[in-house]
Parts: sequence; structure tokens; C-alpha cells
Amino acid sequence: MTQHQTADLTQAVLDRIDPNADPRFTQILTAVVQHAHALIREVDLKPDEWMSAIQFLTRVGQTCDDKRQEFILLSDTLGISMLVVALEQARRSAAALADATATQKPTEATVQGPFYWEGSPVLPLGSDIGEGMPGEPAYYSGRVTDTHGRALANCCVDVWSGDGEGVYDMQLGDEAGMRLRARFYTDEQGGYRFWSIKPTYYPVPADGPVGDMLRAMGRHPNRPGHVHMMVYAKGHVPLTTHLFAADSPYLDSDAVFGVRDSLIVPYDKHAPGTAPDGRVMKQAYHTAHYDFALAPAAA
Ligand code: BEZ
Ligand code: FE
Repeated sequence: MTQHQTADLTQAVLDRIDPNADPRFTQILTAVVQHAHALIREVDLKPDEWMSAIQFLTRVGQTCDDKRQEFILLSDTLGISMLVVALEQARRSAAALADATATQKPTEATVQGPFYWEGSPVLPLGSDIGEGMPGEPAYYSGRVTDTHGRALANCCVDVWSGDGEGVYDMQLGDEAGMRLRARFYTDEQGGYRFWSIKPTYYPVPADGPVGDMLRAMGRHPNRPGHVHMMVYAKGHVPLTTHLFAADSPYLDSDAVFGVRDSLIVPYDKHAPGTAPDGRVMKQAYHTAHYDFALAPAAA
């Protein structure tokens, strides 16, 4: 095929799209075909290389089951999930970012990850979800406000994390049930507080094709220590984010590119004694403080 004929091939594929197809579908599929053909021309892809790619994607699909989503992991580790999250947040927060009267920016979003479990228990403020779990105790507190600093009362703060050894309940098999996760509702001042553990870094699942890809790229599979939070209140853009421990390894090389500087939080370590909520701690503990700001939802 000549250069001219290979260019015709791209157009020939595009010409087969039904002019009555959904316009957004047509826009996306047109870009997929154009970019894929351009990539193949750029690297002059060989048949055996394309076959390796097909075998890799086949293994990615075969590794998925009801607990494991290797395609999402592929998207995460190639930075695609984080790019989609960042674009969506920029779009949904545009009005708040353009509001000259706003006193704070909306809290930055990051990836949800595969370990969110809907329907965790609703617990009173101040509860301990880390009791008996591996890891050092940590007291989390802060406020949720809008971008004008006004308290958001009765706002849900849905929290989940791995334990102090980096293991999530969902990785422990069906019998383990939920642990280290709960929903809290803010008080009249927008305040939230609870006890859990200080999370540690952990590897994303690396025993499948995505792990092979990371090793071939010379990359490690680790995520820095973090607590996941989903924060939502009526009339505001829901926020899915993390708090990252400021002293964790891998903050500058998160396997899924989720770290934002604004989400890095110091965990202050305290000797045994009376904690800020009056609890008498027999062991050393940490405190982590973070205030969230939610953007107003579009009318
Ligand atoms: C997580 O933080 O839970 C996570 C995110 C992306 C891939 C794997 C795990
Ligand atoms: Fe996580």
C-alpha cells in the first residue's frame, strides 16, 4: 500500500459510520480510529507486535472477575483514570473557580479505585473504625464548607482505607465483611471527626498482565499511604478524593498518578495521653486535620 492508500484506509473506515449514529459516539469513534491509525503509522507497527498487544488485552479481559477489574487497573496505571477525573472536576467546578467572590477553591478530586463498597455503616461522629486493626491509631477531623467558607451541615463523609499493612477488607475474602469503612454526617458547623488508623503504602494488584506491563516499563506498583473519602451534600458537586500521609514513601511516584499536593496531610504523632476529643490513649497516636470545600452544583 502506498502512503496515499493507507491514508484512504483511515477515511474508508470513517466513511462507514452511519451519519445518523449518535453524534457523541461518532465524535469519539472517529478520534479513536484517527489516533489509532496515526499511532500505527508513527511506530510502523509490525504484525507480531500487534499480535502481542492483542494477547495482552485478551489476558487483561481474562483476569477480570466480579472482584478484580484489570481494565480499570490498566486505565489507572496509564494515567487515563486520573485524566478523566481531572477533566470532569474542572468542568463541574468551572463556575466555582470563576467566582471572584469565592474564598476557597473546591477540594481536588482523585481516583476512586476498586475498593469502594457501597452501603458502609452510618456511625456517630467520633466513632473508631480502626479498633483492633493493624496500624497506629489516628484521629481525623476537619470541616466541610462550600467555596464561600459556609458550613455544610449533614454532609456525608464516606471513608474507606486499607489497614496499617496496606490490606483492604475486600482483599480478605467473602467472610471478612466490611472493616475500616463508615459514613459520617457533619454537625451544624460542618465538622467531622472519627478515629481510624494511619494508612501505609501498598501495591496495586501486580500478579496479572498489568503487573507484567509495569515491570516491562521499569515501574513499581506502589501507592503512597492514603485514606479514601467521598464527600457529598445536596446542591453541591460530589467529591471523591484521598488524604495522603505527608511522610509516606511513593508520594512522587504513585502507581496510578492520583497524588495532588493539596491532598497531602501531615499526620502529627503524639505520645500516649489525652487526645483532642478527650479520649485517653494508652499508646502513641496521630492526628490528621483536613477541611474540604465543595463546589456548588449547576442549577
Ligand atoms: C486504591 O487506592 O484503592 C487503588 C486505586 C487504583 C488502583 C488500585 C487501588
Ligand atoms: Fe486505596
